[in-house]
Formats: sequence, structure tokens, C-alpha cells
Amino acid sequence: MTRHYSVLKFQRMRERGERIAMLTAYDYPTARFADAAGIPLILVGDTLGMVVLGYDSTIPVTVEDMIHHGKAVVRGTEKAHVVVDMPFGSYQTGWQDALRNATRIMQETGCDSVKLEGGRRSAETVARLVEAGIPVMGHIGLTPQSVNTIGGFRVQGKTPREAVPLIEDAKLLEQAGAYSIVLELVPTALSHMITQRVKVPTIGIGAGPFCSGQVQVQHDILGLYDDLRPKHTRRFAKVGEISREAIRAYRDAVEAGEFPTAEESFYMDEHALELIERMTPSPADDMSEAERVLTELHDGAATPVGEHHN
Ligand code: KIV
Repeated sequence: MTRHYSVLKFQRMRERGERIAMLTAYDYPTARFADAAGIPLILVGDTLGMVVLGYDSTIPVTVEDMIHHGKAVVRGTEKAHVVVDMPFGSYQTGWQDALRNATRIMQETGCDSVKLEGGRRSAETVARLVEAGIPVMGHIGLTPQSVNTIGGFRVQGKTPREAVPLIEDAKLLEQAGAYSIVLELVPTALSHMITQRVKVPTIGIGAGPFCSGQVQVQHDILGLYDDLRPKHTRRFAKVGEISREAIRAYRDAVEAGEFPTAEESFYMDEHALELIERMTPSPADDMSEAERVLTELHDGAATPVGEHHN
């Protein structure tokens, strides 16, 4: 399928100074919401593991998980470019494995590109994938798949010792052919500096306002969870609260016998009802009369009847 946003379009957006609003989606409904709202770049993030599958990190997410959810997102998207995360273990073991897994993800989901974490350590892999025709988005700063070596979800690049390698990482990814780079949890001044030093679009999350675009987790901006509220997100709605209230109201209506009403039910014509009553004359399980009435119907002794659907 040809969608409206190619990687070249994002490059042009950056050159024209148009900010790119990227958002995650994990299934058919979240993809439809994002696409209908005009989001040009949808990420099937491996945050899937945390906000949809209930894990406490992204580490347990598999290629199969990403393919399963990526397919649903692609089915729910008409215009946006869909980028799918390569999960933990699917590219760190060498570019050959990365190429095999990225090829599977592209072929089986129908997505437009893949994203993987890491700067210099992933540069060769990025180059090999791009060479093979797979557009790649990079991801540096906080790289959640390395949470166990980084020592937690904390801001990266606050000191010169950490910041200089991050700038180099961005440049290496650009040289390797990444079409865009996510900067996660880095100080505003540093993400600004990186954005000025590379030509490809930078997409920030917890990286301040000077990136070429921003990415957020859909469940965060919709306010689905009360207990997951990272500092860098903003709740644009309280969908969690609205959902709980709606489900409570539904339960109350069922328990009170108020749902469904006549308006929410279906009817059949009276002749059909009469025949059914003749066929099953008693509330007991005696169906012997049914055979005789059906034979009558078959012989033309009674008018066939249809059921009304509304
Ligand atoms: O997995 C994800 O959702 C991400 C974003 C937070 C950038 O990688």
C-alpha cells in the first residue's frame, strides 16, 4: 500500500521547519485514532510491552509480538507512515540477524520502516539495513532496552563526558543512513545542539522543544493510566477515567434491568411468532409439533414467514 508520508517527506518537513507530530499505536483502534487525527508518523513502539502487555520493561517483547501488533496498526492506517520497533535481541546479535528480523517485520506487517536503539554500536547494522532497502530510524539518549546497563530510566547526556558521545552517535547514525533519530530523555540544550549538527529530522521525547518533531506514547497523552505519568508527557484527555465511568454505568444499567430497552432490541413479525408458538406448544422441551408445522409449511398449507431484522 502507498501511504502519504515517505521518509523523503519527513526530510522536507524538517527543511521547511514544519514540526513532526509522531505518536505510538499498538493495535487497530489506536492506529485509526492517530491516523484520523492527521498524525503523519505512527510508531509501533516496543513500549507495547509496558502499556499494552503489562510487563515492567520492554525487554520481554518479541519479534512475534511486534509483527502481530504491527499488522493491526498497518490495517488501521490509511495515510501515516508506520515505523515498527525492532525489539530487544532482534538486532544486537549482528547485522545478519538484524537484516533477517527487519525483513520479516517489513514483509509480514507491511510497515514502512523500522526503528532500533543505539548509536555507534548500531551504526553498522543501520548501514546494512539501509543498503538492503529498509528505511531505519535511530534512537539514542535513554535507550529503554539497555535499562539494565544504564541503571534505570534517567536523563542521559547531562555531563560533557556523556554529551559528546551522544552528539557523535547522532552523526554516526546519520552517516549510516538513518532517515531520522529519536532523542529520548536528554537535556533541551543538548537535543538542540544535536538537531543543529545533523541534517535528518530529530524526534524528541523528554528532549525539549527544539527537535524537528516530538513523539509520545498514545496511552500517556490520552491519560489511560493514573499510575504511569512520566514528567515529559502531557495528558490531553482523561480517557482512563471516562472508560471506568462508562463501564460502571453499563454494569449498573444491566443490574437494574435498564439495558437493553425496546429501542436496543430486535423484533419478528407476529405471524412468525404464532407459528413458532404452535411448533413449541408448551414451555417444556416437547418439539414433536414442530415437525408437523414444518411439513404443513413445506406443502404450502401455511404461508412462509420471514424474520424482521429491526
Ligand atoms: O517504544 C516506544 O514507544 C519508543 C518511544 C518512547 C520513542 O521507542
